[in-house]
Amino acid sequence: MAVLVCGGAGYIGSHMVRFLLERGEDVLVLDDLSTGHRDFVPPSVPFVQGDVRDATLLGCLFREHRVDAVFHFAAFIQVGESMRDPLAYYDNNLQGVLRLLQTMVRHGVENFVFSSTAAVYGEPELVPIPEDALKCPTNPYGETKLAVERLLHWTSVAHDLRWSALRYFNACGAALDGSIGEAHDPETHLIPLVLDAAMGRRPSVTIFGDDYDTPDGTCIRDYVHVMDLVEAHLLALNALRSGRRSSVYNLGNGRGFSVLEVVEACRRVTGRSILVEKGARRPGDPARLVASSARIREELGWEPRYTALDAIVETAWRWHGKRWG
Ligand code: UFG
Repeated sequence: MAVLVCGGAGYIGSHMVRFLLERGEDVLVLDDLSTGHRDFVPPSVPFVQGDVRDATLLGCLFREHRVDAVFHFAAFIQVGESMRDPLAYYDNNLQGVLRLLQTMVRHGVENFVFSSTAAVYGEPELVPIPEDALKCPTNPYGETKLAVERLLHWTSVAHDLRWSALRYFNACGAALDGSIGEAHDPETHLIPLVLDAAMGRRPSVTIFGDDYDTPDGTCIRDYVHVMDLVEAHLLALNALRSGRRSSVYNLGNGRGFSVLEVVEACRRVTGRSILVEKGARRPGDPARLVASSARIREELGWEPRYTALDAIVETAWRWHGKRWG
């Protein structure tokens, strides 16, 4: 039986594919390569280039392969872009899952692991944020992810479907051998941008606001390593396979780091000077987003390993050097 990884050529999906292979799973990748990278998927893995909303294609895939579980990474992920083009986000992020679930139900495939996000919470009332905190997204990206979580719930009420929704906080880092990592175009995430500045690929990095109500005035985020994320996915899948109930889990390392702390860590790890400029706040940025991941630690025994900022940056830097050096 194979695991279908939708979006398996993207940042987190490609790390998932390798991790599954290492654990002896059969893997099949579907990716339209709109943001993914074909060379991130090992040549030995069956790869289908196509759109997750293509019902005909999905029908063929499920007929040709014995799929027992589906991972969904094939979503648009940029908050700012979602504000400019909400229709594209609803179309891709919601319809993609809808088509998959329809196909899964038709073919009797019961296990679904979904990439959700901390953006479902919006501006948090309480930090660290537990899963049952108020969900009030402040952008269409978070709304689409929350809508999918509701869709999963109602689908599992009516059909034999078990699901796990994993709400990532700030995914970061790279494969330990530096062979794959974060490669967005355009890049908007903090760590790769700071490493770009360290490498001279951009002159400086702009800090979006230094007047927040935090110790150094810059935003605090919960940076969770991609290898810890993929481990959580496999734990979630195996829990579903063993009959555990559907659930939602936060994935964060439980520690918050400020933007300035990230820049300092990048200076330490790279040994390079990194020029910083102070800029205006980015609209929609909450001051502090830190996960409570107590639920997945207690229920599934997840224990993130790469929680130190320098260790996270080291893996990202190794990858950055291979890609751009
Ligand atoms: N930042 C800067 N300068 C930059 C880029 C980012 O100061 O050039 C700051 C941001 O303002 C923020 C922090 O660095 O305070 C992290 O920003 P990222 O863009 O790397 O990540 P976000 O916290 O905005 O977003 C992440 C995920 C989203 C998810 C969100 C949940 O990337 O997919 O967390 O809140 F929706």
